[in-house]
This record gives sequence, C-alpha cells and structure tokens, in this order.
Amino acid sequence: MHMEALPMERNQLRAVVLLSAVMVMLSLSSCCASSAGGGQLLHPVILIPGSGGNQLEARLTDDYKPSSLTCRLWPPVRGRGGWFRLWFDPSVLLAPLTRCFAERMMLYYDRDADDYRNAPGVETRVSDFGSTSTLRYLDPTLKLLTGYMDTLASTLETAGYEEGHTLFGAPYDFRYGLAAPGHPSQVGSAYLDRLRLLVESACAANGGRPAILLAHSLGGLYALQLLARAPLPWRAAHVKRLVTLSAPWGGSVQVMLTFASGNTLGVPFVDASLIRAEQRSSESNLWLLPTPKVFGNTTLVVSERHNRTYSAKNVTQFLQDIGFAEGVEPYRARTRPLGEALPEPGVPVTCLVGTGVDTVESLVFGEEGFDAGPVKVVYGDGDGTVNLASLVGPIKAWSDSPAQIIEVVELPKVSHTGILKDKSALEQILRIVDSINRNATSTSPRQST
Ligand SMILES: *[C@@H]1O[C@H](CO)[C@@H](O)[C@H](O)[C@H]1NC(C)=O
Ligand SMILES: *[C@@H]1O[C@H](CO)[C@@H](O)[C@H](O)[C@H]1NC(C)=O
Ligand SMILES: *[C@@H]1O[C@H](CO)[C@@H](O)[C@H](O)[C@H]1NC(C)=O
Ligand SMILES: *[C@@H]1O[C@H](CO)[C@@H](O)[C@H](O)[C@H]1NC(C)=O
Repeated sequence: MHMEALPMERNQLRAVVLLSAVMVMLSLSSCCASSAGGGQLLHPVILIPGSGGNQLEARLTDDYKPSSLTCRLWPPVRGRGGWFRLWFDPSVLLAPLTRCFAERMMLYYDRDADDYRNAPGVETRVSDFGSTSTLRYLDPTLKLLTGYMDTLASTLETAGYEEGHTLFGAPYDFRYGLAAPGHPSQVGSAYLDRLRLLVESACAANGGRPAILLAHSLGGLYALQLLARAPLPWRAAHVKRLVTLSAPWGGSVQVMLTFASGNTLGVPFVDASLIRAEQRSSESNLWLLPTPKVFGNTTLVVSERHNRTYSAKNVTQFLQDIGFAEGVEPYRARTRPLGEALPEPGVPVTCLVGTGVDTVESLVFGEEGFDAGPVKVVYGDGDGTVNLASLVGPIKAWSDSPAQIIEVVELPKVSHTGILKDKSALEQILRIVDSINRNATSTSPRQST
C-alpha cells in the first residue's frame, strides 16, 4: 500500500532490447563465467530497496488494544517469539483483516518527543539486515516465492557476486523517514548508522575496495542522506559510486492522491479509508510529497469544493484541507527541509530513470471533496509513479558542481518498479559494475589478512 506495493505492480511495457546491448551482456557473462571460482576482485554491492520492497515483522504486547475480536485472534499462529509478518502479508487484502493490518502499521507523531513511534503494543523489526534474503524472497525461510529484487540480485550473481561476501542487502522500516537537522528521528537515524557500519564492513571484507550503493526509489533518498551526513573523506574511502534506480528526488504528485483519498492501487475489497489512515500516518509518505524545489508554482491539485488550487508550495494548506491537520507540523518542520536541501552526493552517481510511462501530473477534486476521489486526472511523463521532473530534478544543480561526477541514463517505457527487472536496466547496471570492477586492485593499503 506504499509507493510501490510490489505484489500488485504490473509492468506491461517492455523496452526494445538493442542487439548491441545483448552482445555486451553476452561478453560480460562469458568474462565472468571464465573467472568463476574466485580470483576476480569485486567492489562490494549493497542493495538498498524502495519502500514497499522491504519486509516488516511485528509482535503484539499486552499494551495492544485490538479494535475487534478478529484482530485479537489474528494471526492464529504468531510464530517464534510471537513474531509474524506484517508487511507484505497477503491477508491485508481480506476485508476484515485490513483493519488489523492498518491499526498495527499506523505510526503516531509524538509532539512532545518530536518523533514518530509505533502504535501502542506493537513492536516491529526488520530481520536479516545485511542479507538480501528479504528483498529476494517473499518467504525468506523457504525461498519459494521470489520477490522484488531477486532478478537484480541474480543478475549480479551471474557477474560473480556472492551473497554475504560481495553482495549485501540493507532493508529498513519503510514507514519511517528522516528529519531535518535538529529534529530527532530515532528509527531513521538508527538505520543510517547500521547502513554506515554495513558499508564499512563490506569494504573491509573486500580488501578495502569501496562499495557500490545500488538504491531503488526511496532507498535513493536514504542513500543520499547517508552520504550527505558523512565526512567527504569517509565517502571517498567507502563509496565508489551511488547508482539510483527511479529515485524520486522531488517527490511525486501521485502521493498527493494517496494522502487525499487513499491509494488501494485498484485492488478490490480493500477499504480505502482504513488504508488512507495508515498511509497518512507514514512519515516516509510525507517525505515523498512533491517538493517546491522541483515542482515550483505548477498547479498540482484543484479543489472545486474549496475553490483553491495547490502547488508544491501549498502542501501545508493541502494537508489541512484534506482533513489531515496532524500532518502539517511534522511536514513543515521535519520533512520539507530535506527536499529543499538536496546536497550533492559527493561520490560519482549514476541515475537510471524510466520515462515515457503515463504518470499522474495533476488532479481535480470536485464539489464532493477529497474523500470522493478525483473527478479528473491529467497524466504526464515519468515512470508511472514518479514524475520526470522529480526523477531528474536536482541533477542539473549537482552537475554544475565541477567535483560531482554524474551520469543520467533514461530508459524509455520502463516503469518505476519494472526497472528492477527490465533487460535494458539490468544491462546498464552490469555495465556500470563491470567498468568499476575492471579497475579493481588488490594493492589497497587497507587490505587486511
Ligand atoms: C511563484 O509564485 C510566487 C508567489 O505567487 C511568485 O512570487 C514567484 O515569482 C512565482 N515564481 C515563478 C517561477 O513563477
Ligand atoms: C473562487 O475564487 C476566485 C478567485 O480566487 C473568485 O474570483 C471566485 O469568486 C471564487 N468562487 C467561489 C464560488 O467562491
Ligand atoms: C499557494 O502558494 C502561493 C505561493 O506561496 C500563494 O500565493 C497562494 O496563495 C497559495 N495558495 C493556497 C491555496 O494556499
Ligand atoms: C578506471 O581507471 C581509469 C584509469 O585510472 C580511469 O580513467 C577510469 O575512469 C576508471 N573507471 C572507473 C569506472 O572507475
């Protein structure tokens, strides 16, 4: 139910596969096949997923106050230590269970603490940090149902990458976000600390060779914050390149629809108002609202009932008018400044972006108000989820800086999550990783034995 709820995503569009690209692919796989069995020096790769691609486990304590008998009893088998899968669990699609899901997923903004926290009585955790298992498999224990990043991870394996040695995963609790300096963000900051340590240990385990960060969607925003908050010498020593896939640098207009009337992604029987409350409570969704820096004065939403138009500069008014006044303060103080100050990464960057897929560009809500959903939706260019302006937004500013190396690769007709499976995208990723590894050396003074 978040920005890219993967089990529901359908990528019907296929990019044309260029013969030359296929040949590059063939030559890469033959190069790597010949070096299979070791010997090849690789820069470690760390996969940082987008929001819906993470998994989340929960445990209910005595403080949990279920809203119904169903929620008291569900799930019947709560697994080891009471932990059960909260996201993604297909039971969310069954009407009576949607409510249980929503009340456990909800976050609360604590004004006194100026931070977000879980619902009372709900403990959550992200398991297998450091591993790609929860990104590759919907059922990480049995490994039967492949998911989100499996194709990408397998592609890297064909290029010689090995789980736990050169290939790592950095899942996180995607409901939380980060906050502007001066505001606490316990969960988000703890994740950045873990990610920093993972990067350091991956480098140390690979002869001091700096890591390649491969980040999808919201993961790109986290990766940028990791870099921006680290001293330049740390970045140079530990990160070879940041490769972002579909990073929503300036947010997405579609997220305004999510806040206004809920986004069930067309799945029937799901109660939009329950889902909307949960989606509104997510701090990371505030982070993904369109930013003034990228969208400027452009009218994104019209409300005929309020006789108002809203640009990215009017998001606080918008949040009030849709009936979500609680979101105004955290948005204004904590989240909006992050989107306004998009510092350059300070390491070489490649941004892979899908284009040419119909993407919500503006919305008109009628006399019935926001709850009723839009009466008109205008589509524009983007990857189906994120607008083109946002995908390439800050890149111009970054490339004006002489020290910043930046490469943008546009992939026609590749969707927001389709980019994780699309042939042309995977070829680009192999090209980047291979050209970096061709230069890999074992002579680093950091190498330990
Ligand atoms: C945007 O709107 C503000 C206030 O209405 C105005 O001062 C500013 O010049 C406008 N900017 C652009 C780029 O149109
Ligand atoms: C809507 O707003 C415009 C200008 O903001 C105003 O001229 C018009 O009278 C308003 N219409 C209604 C029905 O309030
Ligand atoms: C939106 O923001 C612009 C520029 O700051 C301002 O002129 C306009 O009155 C705002 N509109 C609403 C509905 O708040
Ligand atoms: C590989 O090394 C060469 C020579 O030092 C350099 O010009 C090139 O940019 C390097 N390539 C990558 C991908 O780092």
